[in-house]
Amino acid sequence: MKRLLCLLAALSLALFQAGALTPAEGREYRSLNGQWNYIVDPMDTGIYKYHMTIQKPHKRYFADRHFYEDRTKLVEYDFDKAPTLSVPGDWNTQSERLYLYEGTIWYRTVVDFHKTPGRRWFLHFGAVNYQCMVGLNNTILGTHKGGFTPFEFEVTDQLKEGPNSLVVWVNNTRGVSEVPTLNYDWWNYGGITRDVTLVGVPEVFIKDWRMRFDGKVASFDVFLDGGSGSVAIEIPELGISKKACAGRDGVAHFKIKAAPELWSPDSPRMYDIVLSSGSDRITDRIGFRTVRVEGEEILLNGKPVFLKGVAMHDESIGINPGRCRGEEDAKALLDAAKDLGCNFLRLAHYPHSEQMVRLAEEMGFMLWEEIPCYWNIDWSSEETYANAENQLLEMIGRDYNRAAVIIWSVANETPRKPERLEFLGKLIAKTRAEDPTRLVSAALEKKLTDPRHAVVEDELIGLTDLLSFNQYEGWYDGTPADCDSLEWSIPSGKPVVISEFGGGALFGNHGSDKELFTEEYLSLLYRHNLEMLSRLPGLSGLCPWCLKDFRSPKRPLAGIQDDFNRKGLIDEQGRRKLAFFVVRDYYLSD
Ligand code: GCU
Repeated sequence: MKRLLCLLAALSLALFQAGALTPAEGREYRSLNGQWNYIVDPMDTGIYKYHMTIQKPHKRYFADRHFYEDRTKLVEYDFDKAPTLSVPGDWNTQSERLYLYEGTIWYRTVVDFHKTPGRRWFLHFGAVNYQCMVGLNNTILGTHKGGFTPFEFEVTDQLKEGPNSLVVWVNNTRGVSEVPTLNYDWWNYGGITRDVTLVGVPEVFIKDWRMRFDGKVASFDVFLDGGSGSVAIEIPELGISKKACAGRDGVAHFKIKAAPELWSPDSPRMYDIVLSSGSDRITDRIGFRTVRVEGEEILLNGKPVFLKGVAMHDESIGINPGRCRGEEDAKALLDAAKDLGCNFLRLAHYPHSEQMVRLAEEMGFMLWEEIPCYWNIDWSSEETYANAENQLLEMIGRDYNRAAVIIWSVANETPRKPERLEFLGKLIAKTRAEDPTRLVSAALEKKLTDPRHAVVEDELIGLTDLLSFNQYEGWYDGTPADCDSLEWSIPSGKPVVISEFGGGALFGNHGSDKELFTEEYLSLLYRHNLEMLSRLPGLSGLCPWCLKDFRSPKRPLAGIQDDFNRKGLIDEQGRRKLAFFVVRDYYLSD
């Protein structure tokens, strides 16, 4: 498989760095969401010849029979007769036989297209987990790896008038050198899990734009594709209307003095912005804020802020939860976090959807976003590093202009060894080079040097802006009451954010507060933990793990877990556990 994808990567057309291919005036924007036919292919019969030889990608499935195959030839598949899956959506929760499926599924949709002169066309995927190969009308456009970030292909020359066959090979098989690796505590939801769109843009269009605000001046870089030209920026409510010229490099630079109302959780003030060049005209909404650390404090707009957070997975609330499919799913989770009294969210352990980030920004949540360098990945592999860096750049590229994002995190609970430090040190340097305006972190671990003494020490602390770590006193270590006497040794000088703490309980399971998985035990655990953590010097943020019970194949305990990690403050149906109110009282108390 890997050899094939390397071959294809060489063949594939340039993968476009996803940026500003959003709906906009002067553009055409077609959603390709809906019911797509699918064929399950556990042995990749659609790619390999029977000797498992790979002379070249066996175009069997890309040459969609409906359009191309000589009907006298024997082929043993037919998308037209195949069942359908909803796109966006993971396949695991759409069919019993796909619940645990790891492997290849072929998707096909037919796109009825009518050319508009003077336009270029791009095929944009919000995310596909975990890797894919995209073919249009029997031409392989390219491949993408990484299950949580957007990508696109230019298809101007491949689209035809009338029906077009769009075929996507998707494979969610875990791999020791993948990111994440073989072992992680969430469900491996496979499929085309976020929106698919076809975007028509003018010959010369705004491919991307980035804004930085230092408290007085807003600096913009606007990137044209297809040529040079004049670029205009308007922010009507601020009376801003500026023009600049994009030279041969296609980049227009602006430095604009601005005195906006600042974005903050208490007042998530957003402004409409219009960027235009020729016939291309993008409208978006932006917030203005600054964030930095000073000693042991996090300063938002120059004032100390405490991160009243919660960690969450990108999984919907409901009887049959799955990968969030859109704004409605995101809103349900964000409403629960708002009800909890949060002003901050740790979007764990991978980039969540663009809808989640944009909605969180409008609702006034500061955000921690992270890439899935989770537990013990293959630190010595250059390919693994390139994959991790690409996912980092795609995450930053998508959300660079989101005021809500204040922290980029490069890892979670990774083992301390030289090759890991080198790997993450490079990622942190890359993060700072790509975006010098935000804080950089990683969720570290504590260790007990004896049952009563917790220590946080890690070479990464010297490289990050925050000292963030996960701790489970009262669950994996000790009892809730042991929190009262636990001694901590934590380096000083940086803001401390507890990136995970908590325990499990089944909603409605009531009993002694000495009994694991009862709601009473979890409430007691949170009361003792909150008292203990409040005493830590430099404490600047808290993230209970986790907002909602979430699926994980590591949590099979029948009658209690049933494939769910029960550390949620609410269960998968959104029902609030007693511990939810312990945390909410704490957050609302000051
Ligand atoms: C770890 C990990 C989480 C996991 C949690 C748990 O801290 O970061 O992803 O779900 O522990 O054990 O529940």
